[in-house]
Amino acid sequence: MSYHNPPTPPRKSATFDDASLAEIRRAAATGIYDIRGGGTKRHVPHFDDLLFLGASMSRYPLEGYRERCDTSVTLGTRFARKPIELKIPVTIAGMSFGALSGPAKEALGRGATIAGTSTTTGDGGMTDEERGHSELLVYQYLPSRYGMNPVDLRRCDAIEIVVGQGAKPGGGGMLLGQKISDRVAEMRTLPKGIDQRSACRHPDWTGPDDLEIKILELREITDWEKPIYIKVGGSRPYYDTALAVKAGADVVVLDGMQGGTAASQDVFIEHVGLPTLACIRPAVKALQDLGMHRKVQLIVSGGIRNGADVAKALALGADAVSVGTAALVALGDNDPKWEAEYNALGTTAGAYDDWHEGKDPAGITTQDPALASRLDPVAAGRRLANYLKVITLEAQTIARACGHNDLHNLEPEDLVALTIEAAAMAEVPLAGTTWIPGKTGL
Ligand SMILES: Cc1cc2nc3c(=O)[nH]c(=O)nc-3n(C[C@H](O)[C@H](O)[C@H](O)COP(=O)(O)O)c2cc1C
Repeated sequence: MSYHNPPTPPRKSATFDDASLAEIRRAAATGIYDIRGGGTKRHVPHFDDLLFLGASMSRYPLEGYRERCDTSVTLGTRFARKPIELKIPVTIAGMSFGALSGPAKEALGRGATIAGTSTTTGDGGMTDEERGHSELLVYQYLPSRYGMNPVDLRRCDAIEIVVGQGAKPGGGGMLLGQKISDRVAEMRTLPKGIDQRSACRHPDWTGPDDLEIKILELREITDWEKPIYIKVGGSRPYYDTALAVKAGADVVVLDGMQGGTAASQDVFIEHVGLPTLACIRPAVKALQDLGMHRKVQLIVSGGIRNGADVAKALALGADAVSVGTAALVALGDNDPKWEAEYNALGTTAGAYDDWHEGKDPAGITTQDPALASRLDPVAAGRRLANYLKVITLEAQTIARACGHNDLHNLEPEDLVALTIEAAAMAEVPLAGTTWIPGKTGL
């Protein structure tokens, strides 16, 4: 009598999964690390792991269609003579001309202005398109100093000193040769068509004591008018926030690891930094410990997509949020209408992340004049304004349901977490319990 074992189905390794195997083969074939745009793709604890409780017997909700729920916020109230007044607590994050096309920069300015908020320059300087179409423009002062112009320091409405980015805390920028057009090269005083790497450290200060002097210099040359922001990538949010306050910031911008980038090493995007959710409470605690919460404003970014994300960030203590990737999608990036062209590039609309290559069919992350001309900045700006309006309305809906007449009255009390990790990071109870891991007993 013969005995046959039932056939064993082939089993793939959870460790050496398809993506890991493909990356090993890609590395072996090319000898260069993978560079891409976008933010962290793997799952890390995020705002989706939190829920609002909503009012019932112990809280009184506000009427959605009749009762006011304020959305405005003022940034730069600490020292600046001309703080920035925003109608909504959502700003457009710094994205460089070079990474983005001229029409895309114009569209960001148009959309932000309709919505009553600010937009931000990026590595490589200020363009006339964005200055002309942005009522409120924040000028980035970056380690590279590419495109840095003292005249533009005076043309802007606020200055953002970039120390780091959530996608790559501790790392510098990249703009590959394909995107260094004549205009980009001229603005950055670099040769055309050659890969450019931006510094990861500022050339003229090394710590908060020197930065304090730098900030005073910037205030002097702008007549103490402009709010000065300091942007850090999420890695040590308590100390980074405290040191930014010590150095004299009016506003701290904290960008978590899900934050987008135009071009970085994949290993950096996926393995360096803290999830956005984990950054907020330590930063707020630093501000509270220094008696500076709401005096130095906190802007949080990294993976903000909808009104629930906005409301959750504000409930955890942020004054405003900033969007990068979502703004590009609202303009028309990664749109399935270009699917055939994404397929020709070996990808698909939702997954397209080769923003560094400059072949974006939507005309946004490119310097190719033919592709860039596909984006109508007026229509794209209107789409962005619609999107900003919708996420603000969503956040208001939630705030009213929690009984608040101002988005900034949302509080950690309004939240619970779906996972132990999120409960520990956001310092709110695990749903259905009173347990905040690391803070309270069961
Ligand atoms: C195309 C692109 C270009 C960017 N360029 C810059 C830049 O020049 N300077 C900077 O500080 N951050 C830059 N960032 C990061 C954004 O300012 C912001 O921190 C990030 O996009 C926020 O995360 P989100 O994309 O999930 O909204 C860039 C992001 C993208 C997507």
